[in-house]
Amino acid sequence: MSVNRPAAVIVLAAGEGTRMKSKLPKVLHELNGRSMLGHVLAAARELDPQHAVVVVGHAREQVRSHLREIAPQAATAVQEEQNGTGHAVRMAIEDLAAKGVKLSGTVVLTCGDTPLLRGSTLAELVAAHDEEGNAVTALSARVPDPHGYGRIVRDADGDFTGIVEHADATPEQHAIDEINSGMYAFDGALLSEVVQRLSTDNAKGEEYVTDAVALLRGDGHRVGAWAAGDWHEVQGVNNRVQLSEARRVLNDRLLHEHMLAGVTVVDPATTWVDAQVTIGRDTVLEPGTRLLGATCVGEDAVVGPRADLRDTVVGAGATVRETTADRAEIGPGASVGPYTYLRPGTRLAERSKAGAFVEVKNSNVGAESKIPHLTYVGDADIGVGSNIGCSSVFVNYDGVNKSRSVIGDHVRIGSDNTIVAPVHVGDGAYSGAGTVVRDDVPPGALAVSEGHRQRNVEGWTRRKRPGTPSAEAAEQADRHRADDKQ
Ligand code: UD1
Ligand code: CA
Repeated sequence: MSVNRPAAVIVLAAGEGTRMKSKLPKVLHELNGRSMLGHVLAAARELDPQHAVVVVGHAREQVRSHLREIAPQAATAVQEEQNGTGHAVRMAIEDLAAKGVKLSGTVVLTCGDTPLLRGSTLAELVAAHDEEGNAVTALSARVPDPHGYGRIVRDADGDFTGIVEHADATPEQHAIDEINSGMYAFDGALLSEVVQRLSTDNAKGEEYVTDAVALLRGDGHRVGAWAAGDWHEVQGVNNRVQLSEARRVLNDRLLHEHMLAGVTVVDPATTWVDAQVTIGRDTVLEPGTRLLGATCVGEDAVVGPRADLRDTVVGAGATVRETTADRAEIGPGASVGPYTYLRPGTRLAERSKAGAFVEVKNSNVGAESKIPHLTYVGDADIGVGSNIGCSSVFVNYDGVNKSRSVIGDHVRIGSDNTIVAPVHVGDGAYSGAGTVVRDDVPPGALAVSEGHRQRNVEGWTRRKRPGTPSAEAAEQADRHRADDKQ
């Protein structure tokens, strides 16, 4: 939907959110990869407003530093004391005025604690507001339990006359199930004027922005209430129970979008995706999978069961099971898992493999190279078609410095090797089992560690560990050997 560009979006976020029982300000609590405030701002951004102002009060430095990260274009206005929603709006408008901004056009007012709000719903609100030529249009919703909310009051003709707060409502008004969401589209010029006239003559002794409706109507302006189709969208989060409910709703919504776009989600109940995640068609998400941050999965991949991927790229046709990955790149057709840990800077090229109990960090693994089992690869560059034998360790840290290892193309590192960086193994080289690779290996050479010939010290356990089960077992074996010889 294309609507007229609003002059401003104002987001109220000065409250403390005491019911969260948290050190963190309420609006900074997260769900699906964004703070609540981040979700609200993402919805607001879809309107492309000329100005975005967040009203901050409690823990304002924390909120501000978060905003610098996620929405540097948003300004903040300080509300020193929380004297009500109308007072908060006044602070935002006075702040804009001090910067020389006069609000002409539509101003959208939202709260920082409604993470389920869609940008498209705000756009519909603004469109209805413009179409009706209203001074204010409140976003309302019919809800199963209206307790605590402001109610939308209508006259006998059904015309919207004002909003009454729960604390100020009569018993008859308490029965109204159409609630005020706390989000509105306002005529900016009229809002700037009417916020100067709000009284504190109410149950809470606060300046209510809701009183603007009756005041503007009294001045002869048109006012409206526009009902959201999905009441979940306007639900505010006040405690951690509601936070978990909102997370469930948002996650289901995101999964539905992915499924309708061609992704198979085997078990939506145990699959969690962040808002920014992208997934290609015909990819299958197996149970117990979390895709976090900016994770991006290509087509025809299989992810999970139990994959936990953060800011990770998964190429088309890759298989990633039982894996934890953070800032890794998994190439097309690559195979990862089970029980694999890919740490930041891991780049697995196409059709490569990182198998069971393999940890990789800050390393490039070339096309079709394999690290099948029980291995740590750190700070290494491995060429194409190479194989790293079972139970090998890339020793990248001497206690002071980290160094890189380079393994060429079509190299065969034997089992249980220790690759001591910095070291270079040339193309087509081999190494024997148990080799400690300290020196560069020329292309095509076989590396074996010298001085490691096996020596058997006969009778050692009997002499040095007398009386142990091992010594007894050894003695019994000796007796059998003696018997056999007779
Ligand atoms: C407000 C509405 C109510 C509506 C409800 C929806 C008023 C008077 N009432 O109720 O009709 O049903 O929202 O959730 O507006 N805030 C500030 N500064 C303040 C007070 C609040 O920034 O001085 C912020 C809060 O941080 C929050 C938002 O405004 O993000 C709403 O405040 P809250 O106290 O939850 O609203 P209510 O008064 O319960
Ligand atoms: Ca080993």
